Amino acid sequence: MNFLIKTSLKILTLTLSTLNPIASFADNFVNIYSYRQPALLKPLLDAFTVQTGVNTRILFAKKGLGQRINSEGENSPADVLLTVDIGRLEAAKTQGITQPVYSDIIVANIPPQYRDPDNHWFGVTTRARIIYASKERVQQDSITYEELADPKWKGRICTRSGQHVYSIGLIASMVAHFGETKTTKWLKGVKNNLARKPTGNDRSQVKAIYSGECDIALGNTYYMGKMQTNTKEPEQKKWASSVKLLFPNAKDRGTHVNLSGMVMAKYAPHIENAKKLMEFLSSAKAQHVYGSANYEYPVNPDIAADERTSSWGILKADSLSLSDIAKNRKTASELVDKIGFDNGPLL
Ligand SMILES: [Fe+2]
Repeated sequence: MNFLIKTSLKILTLTLSTLNPIASFADNFVNIYSYRQPALLKPLLDAFTVQTGVNTRILFAKKGLGQRINSEGENSPADVLLTVDIGRLEAAKTQGITQPVYSDIIVANIPPQYRDPDNHWFGVTTRARIIYASKERVQQDSITYEELADPKWKGRICTRSGQHVYSIGLIASMVAHFGETKTTKWLKGVKNNLARKPTGNDRSQVKAIYSGECDIALGNTYYMGKMQTNTKEPEQKKWASSVKLLFPNAKDRGTHVNLSGMVMAKYAPHIENAKKLMEFLSSAKAQHVYGSANYEYPVNPDIAADERTSSWGILKADSLSLSDIAKNRKTASELVDKIGFDNGPLL
């Protein structure tokens, strides 16, 4: 009897495959649009395929994936978008290119401060916005964001543009904690302490510490790993060895963190497979592996980061929800313009 049922099912499956080979082939896939390099994702996605039988296809690009999904509209093959920063996750939601995902597994795996209250985006890993400090010229081993406005840092701070998404995330977190007036005063203080006009990326600020142009700089944690292991530009290893990492506000509210995360595309052609992938990526093991690929921290604080990332110090993350930070991004961006942060210090 069982044999007969199995045989019938087999025949039915074969018939369906024969009748509509494309549908059957496509149903076994999930299409991923990713800002993260396919080589970094491969071990994780291979494990996903072994576990679920669902194959993965990746479209990788350094920018423009959100716009691409938007312009592809209902015909978009995108199922899941992997992106970084709350600014981009929230933008995907407000652009209308996402759909909510309701999953008890994801909810259990990802702390509430790292997912959208409407279930449109979910963090997988965090990156902390910390202080790179000269080993030679900075004696202290702790710091606060508030302290960056202290005149003792005059002419000693480097940072990238105040309008970059990473800066906006941090400033928005200050607005969420202290309100607009206090944050304006703080940001003016930081501006007056800058060594130069905000310029370049996070790594170039560390280079400026190495060359003596400044003593401390704002940057994301994972760049330490990227510099320490850089074989293409080995001079970056020297930049990295000239600095130590200070985790701001470690003794009180915690360090500001941002997200690397995922959304399901609004017109995902393979909704079930997309949900399976997102549930898989939210798992403890996947958080660890996904984080290790870029020296980031699992969103679940009980899961250890990889050895190198852990060696830089203990991350006590600010418990502010990224959704609250997102709400203050616009104010933060206006503040940056209002005080002319990117014009640099008063000379
Ligand atoms: Fe980055």
